[in-house]
Formats: sequence, structure tokens, C-alpha cells
Amino acid sequence: MKKRLVKRLIILCLLAMTWAAAGWAGDAKPLSREELDMIREISREIDSSPYLGGLHYQNGVSCQDCHGVPQPGWDDPPEAEQCLSCHESREALAKLFDKELARKWGNPHESHLGDLDCAVCHKGHLASTVYCLGCHTNAPFSIPGQ
Ligand code: HEC
Ligand code: HEC
Ligand code: HEC
Ligand code: HEC
Repeated sequence: MKKRLVKRLIILCLLAMTWAAAGWAGDAKPLSREELDMIREISREIDSSPYLGGLHYQNGVSCQDCHGVPQPGWDDPPEAEQCLSCHESREALAKLFDKELARKWGNPHESHLGDLDCAVCHKGHLASTVYCLGCHTNAPFSIPGQ
């Protein structure tokens, strides 16, 4: 009697898992061939990449930690919230910035442009760029992962 109940429970659990998996696959858009090629290329190079994705990956941060999904396509760039889940807050980041530089040139993490998306400056798989330099061409800002 007890054995049969356990068996039924196991079957129910398996069914629930299959439904959950089917539902999940149904939600996600299938990745295109180009996206899969890009994922393959990024994955191949990430162990030696000098860019921010590589710097993180080599410190044990996974694709999913940044992108929120295990296989990121075009529609899955990292959201600021994803970065801030590890990097505390915009205010904390602004405080880390060199005080002297900030006084003279402003603070990339707290500027007249407001809350910018992190990826405006911090790129994952190509050289990062300080967006401010597009206008303030003389500001002596540098950024990791260049
Ligand atoms: C530091 C966190 C970080 C990690 C770890 C990371 N990425 Fe990214 N990734 C980014 C950022 C930021 C962007 C958007 C800016 C860019 O194009 O570089 C991005 C963009 C991408 C894109 C879109 C490229 C494009 O041109 O739009 C793909 C695909 C991608 N990542 C795949 C991966 C894969 C696969 C891994 C793991 C092997 C990974 N990423 C790990 C931060 C990360
Ligand atoms: C799972 C946690 C985690 C996530 C998510 C994450 N980081 Fe990091 N980040 C780290 C760790 C760990 C380091 C290396 C230790 C340190 O310097 O604090 C680091 C270092 C950095 C550095 C300094 C790199 C250097 O070489 O000086 C930058 C810039 C950075 N992260 C930006 C980002 C951005 C932008 C995102 C989102 C796209 C992001 N991080 C997402 C954990 C994370
Ligand atoms: C306008 C460009 C710009 C934007 C947008 C930006 N950053 Fe940065 N970030 C920089 C620059 C420049 C540095 C290097 C100066 C420094 O290390 O303080 C930096 C440094 C960092 C560091 C390393 C700080 C340290 O001193 O160890 C982290 C972590 C970081 N950024 C995270 C983020 C996150 C998370 C976001 C989004 C919420 C973000 N940044 C948005 C320009 C930017
Ligand atoms: C699209 C062009 C543009 C970009 C990008 C830009 N700025 Fe500005 N910035 C201006 C203009 C225009 C002014 C006002 C005129 C002036 O004083 O030069 C200004 C003024 C400033 C000032 C003077 C004080 C103030 O707040 O008005 C500082 C400091 C400053 N910017 C810092 C930054 C930083 C840091 C970034 C990057 C996060 C940045 N700017 C990005 C155009 C830009």
C-alpha cells in the first residue's frame, strides 16, 4: 500500500517536472543560427579574453550570472540589476571613484546623464569605452577591460 503511494508520488513529480520543462521551453524564443555561432565563439575565447566577460569568467562568474540566462542571445544583454546584484549600488560605485578626478572632471557613475545602463561603458566581449569621452575628449578617464 505504502509502496504504491510512493510510486504514484514519484510519477506525479516526474510529470510535473516535464510540464515545467515544456512550459519553460515554450516561453523562450529559440536561438537563431547566428546567435548560436556567436555564443560558441564567445565561449571558445572567454578563458583567455582580456575583456570584462573574460575577466569575470576567469574569476568564476558564469554567463548566467551576468546575463540571467545560461545561453544568452541578442535579446539577453545584462541588465544593470544583474551587475548590481554583486556590485552593491550605483552610490557605492560612485564613492569608489577617485575624488580628485571627480572634482575636476565629474564622476562616470554619477553624472548629469543620470542612471546610464552599465553596458553603455562596460562591454562584455569587446573593449570597454568611457562614454563621457565622446564629448569631454580631454577627461583622463580609463576603464578596466579596454
Ligand atoms: C561581466 C559579465 C558577463 C559575463 C560573465 C558574460 N557576458 Fe556576455 N555580455 C556582457 C555584456 C555587458 C554584453 C553587452 C555588451 C557587449 O556586446 O559586449 C554582453 C553581450 C553578449 C552577447 C551579445 C553580443 C552582441 O554583440 O550583442 C552574447 C551572445 C553573450 N554576451 C554571450 C555570453 C556567453 C556565452 C558568456 C559565457 C561564456 C558570457 N556572455 C559571459 C557581459 C557578460
Ligand atoms: C556574480 C557576481 C558578479 C556579477 C553578476 C558581475 N560582477 Fe563584476 N566583478 C565581480 C567580481 C568577483 C570581480 C572581481 C573582484 C573585484 O574586483 O571586486 C568583479 C570585477 C568587476 C570590475 C573590475 C574589473 C577589474 O579588472 O578591475 C568591473 C568594472 C565590473 N566587475 C563590472 C561589472 C559589470 C558591468 C557587470 C554586469 C554586466 C558585472 N560586473 C557583473 C563579480 C560580479
Ligand atoms: C559612463 C561610463 C560608465 C557607466 C555607465 C558605468 N561605469 Fe562602471 N566604471 C566606469 C569607469 C570609467 C570605471 C573606472 C574608474 C574606477 O575604477 O573607478 C568604472 C569602474 C567600475 C567598477 C570597478 C570599480 C573599482 O574601483 O573597483 C565596477 C565594479 C563598475 N564600474 C561597475 C559598474 C556598474 C555595475 C554599472 C551600472 C550600474 C556601471 N559600472 C556603469 C565607467 C562607467
Ligand atoms: C553628449 C555629450 C555629453 C556626454 C556624453 C557627457 N557630457 Fe558632460 N557635459 C556635456 C555638456 C554639453 C555640458 C555642459 C556644458 C559644459 O559645461 O561643457 C556638460 C557638463 C559636464 C560637467 C560640468 C558640470 C555639470 O554637471 O554640468 C561635468 C562634470 C560633466 N559634464 C561630466 C560628464 C561625465 C562624467 C560624463 C559621462 C558619464 C559626461 N559628462 C558625458 C556634454 C556631455
